[in-house]
Amino acid sequence: MNIYGEYQSVLPQIMSELTTSLQQLNKEYQQKNDLSLFEHLNARIKSEQSMIEKCHRKGYPVTTYSALRKNRDSIGLRIVCNFIDEIYDCVDLIEQMPDVKIVEKKDYITQSKPNGYRSYHLILDKTFNYPDPDGQNPGHYFVEIQLRTIAMDTWASLEHEIKYKHDIKNPEMISQELKRVADELASCDISMQTIRQLVREDK
Ligand code: GTP
Ligand code: MG
Repeated sequence: MNIYGEYQSVLPQIMSELTTSLQQLNKEYQQKNDLSLFEHLNARIKSEQSMIEKCHRKGYPVTTYSALRKNRDSIGLRIVCNFIDEIYDCVDLIEQMPDVKIVEKKDYITQSKPNGYRSYHLILDKTFNYPDPDGQNPGHYFVEIQLRTIAMDTWASLEHEIKYKHDIKNPEMISQELKRVADELASCDISMQTIRQLVREDK
């Protein structure tokens, strides 16, 4: 039996519903503002193996209930924006989506992690016409959304790669360098936004 049990087939449906709604939001935003809300969007269901690993790591029993209730990232979306401002516009628009409630917000952009990680994280509670592990129908399902700029995404991908290499000879120096690059990229994001503002004022 899969860790997601009878909900295994529901998760991709919720993921695809949300992806479609977000792409629709992007279309409407483009028509109204002449610029994209986001550059691209990725979505994934956490693999069974990763979910089992996470249950072990957190000390939860390896059950469907843990996978869908204790952990809240079985469905994960990543929204990559061109500029920082659009991240906040996107959060506002997600907040207004029907059948969706934001139950957690973490702003690692104004408050970056000590290692330099930047992103805006949301946990959504989405209602869906299908029972859930608490026996509710319509059921409630959690979705994690990470919103980042292209620069933040580039950094997070590289840092993720490096984190899993165990044969690094000078990890302290590497961490320090990664932090330095994260801060440089953050300053580029702000400069890019300023340049855009200057171009707009020129018109
Ligand atoms: P979980 O127990 O994994 O849910 O952690 P959390 O809820 O304490 O963490 P948080 O919301 O900060 O991060 C969840 C996800 O964000 C991770 O699974 C990663 O995808 C991403 N993330 C967080 N911190 C980092 C980081 O330092 N580097 C990278 N590359 N990704 C990060
Ligand atoms: Mg989390």
